[in-house]
Amino acid sequence: MGGFKKKILCIGAGYVGGITMAVIADKCPDYRVALVDIDHEKIDKWNSDNLPIYEPGLDEIVKRRRGKNLFFVKEMGKAIEEADIIFVSVNTPTKMFGAGAGMAADLQYWEKTAREIKKYARSDKVIVEKSTLPVKTADAMERILSAENKKVHFEVISNPEFLAEGSAIRDLEEPDRILIGYKDTPAGKRARDDIVELYAHWVPKKRIITSNIWSSELSKLVANAFLAQRVSSINSITPLCEKTEADISEVARAVGMDSRIGNRFLNASVGFGGSCFKKDILNLVYICRYYGLNEVADYWEGVVRINEYQKERFVARMMDVMFHTLANKRICLFGFAFKANTSDTRESAAIYIAKRLIEEKAALVITDPKALENAKKDLAGDNAKVEYIEDPYLASKGCDAIAIMTEWDIYKELDYEKIYASMRKPAFIFDGRNILDHKRLFEIGFNVYPIGMPGLVHFS
Ligand code: NAD
Ligand code: UGA
Repeated sequence: MGGFKKKILCIGAGYVGGITMAVIADKCPDYRVALVDIDHEKIDKWNSDNLPIYEPGLDEIVKRRRGKNLFFVKEMGKAIEEADIIFVSVNTPTKMFGAGAGMAADLQYWEKTAREIKKYARSDKVIVEKSTLPVKTADAMERILSAENKKVHFEVISNPEFLAEGSAIRDLEEPDRILIGYKDTPAGKRARDDIVELYAHWVPKKRIITSNIWSSELSKLVANAFLAQRVSSINSITPLCEKTEADISEVARAVGMDSRIGNRFLNASVGFGGSCFKKDILNLVYICRYYGLNEVADYWEGVVRINEYQKERFVARMMDVMFHTLANKRICLFGFAFKANTSDTRESAAIYIAKRLIEEKAALVITDPKALENAKKDLAGDNAKVEYIEDPYLASKGCDAIAIMTEWDIYKELDYEKIYASMRKPAFIFDGRNILDHKRLFEIGFNVYPIGMPGLVHFS
């Protein structure tokens, strides 16, 4: 085990911990990188050929580094004791009980980690907040770590993660920026330099920015709020387009060509999902209310409200055009992941749509190239009413309607004539991602309902 310049431990081997540490190990062969998790089954999976998550490019990196300088371990105490730098990447979901229920971040996993670190550490450590946390969390961390502790020094650094699932490896290998928040003390500066040195192995210095620790914590919440706001902004215009015969993709193109606005993240959709946008905005809203900033809180809460509206609107439009009843109609959801190129379904718009369709007594068929296992877990209480079929041709056979939930490339290349022939008529397609060739589908015979564009319909 000798010969390594530094030893890194990451507590929490989930999406962020697993992928970030794999890339760090790959880029820093002189560092020993270990991950530990309370979920021992997950650790077993990380040590197998069947990794616990699907992310393009991840398998190759893990294969390359595992057993060399990347280790997935179960014994927390030993791992903490050995480490010089400890990243904490545990989940910080929305709190579902007590004060702040449904809004605030649930910090119980976070606090448990702090107590474990304190229990096992025998030497000074740099503690890196990788999880997304409310502003001022580092203070709480430091208080827990330093209570009745004079011997070991813990320096807390904030280093939020900006990767997006599906493109995580590229986001980590070529990040727009690495943000490191630190306390302006001699120990704080030393810890900052340690983390800068780590990333400087592959990230150009000009992309590594440092700031005070509170700005760093807050910037992560604000970045996610801004990104989600763009999706809600474009989605908020879609019902207006549907009423006025404007076309949202033409509006997005015209608006996005203004270099001040920019053309990315303007794809209208059935609604944003993912484990973070909603939780981080609600967390921001909660913090604003805590400080009495109700106008600010209302403003950001609107981003989440529009997203809920967009999902409900999708179902309402289906009802409306399918003769006001979905009971016993067979509806096939194309995609269940919250976006393409991931198996992750957390907060996916598809969950909401599926549950609403089940409420309406539709017979549901779900297809997805990577996310069917997660879909089954998400709909566990309703599985008797749902079929899961990986082949989209078989899945859509005999259906009244197809609803595109995820923008998987494979759905663009299917033989829709063959699909149409196998469906019940009149056949409907609801394109919740605007990825299909709508005119062509209409010519085949489908009634086509994209987002933010008038429907192409065979009957008046
Ligand atoms: P995750 O649920 O995939 O992983 C968290 C892991 O922490 C789980 O495996 C869990 O078992 C483990 N854990 C919980 N308590 C523990 C403890 N006391 N000791 C050891 N392990 C423990 O979550 P994630 O998606 O990786 O997110 C982690 C954090 O990163 C969150 O704060 C999230 O907001 C943030 N984040 C996520 C993304 C993303 O794309 N998923 C991107 C940027 C930031
Ligand atoms: C998002 C951010 O992009 C990351 O920077 C951040 O680190 C991460 O959250 C986090 O903190 O967890 P992620 O949720 O993985 O990443 O994926 P995004 O690409 O941001 O997509 C989020 C949702 O918005 C998806 O459902 C996606 O389909 C939807 N979306 C995105 C749209 O509907 N339209 C768009 O134009 C873009």
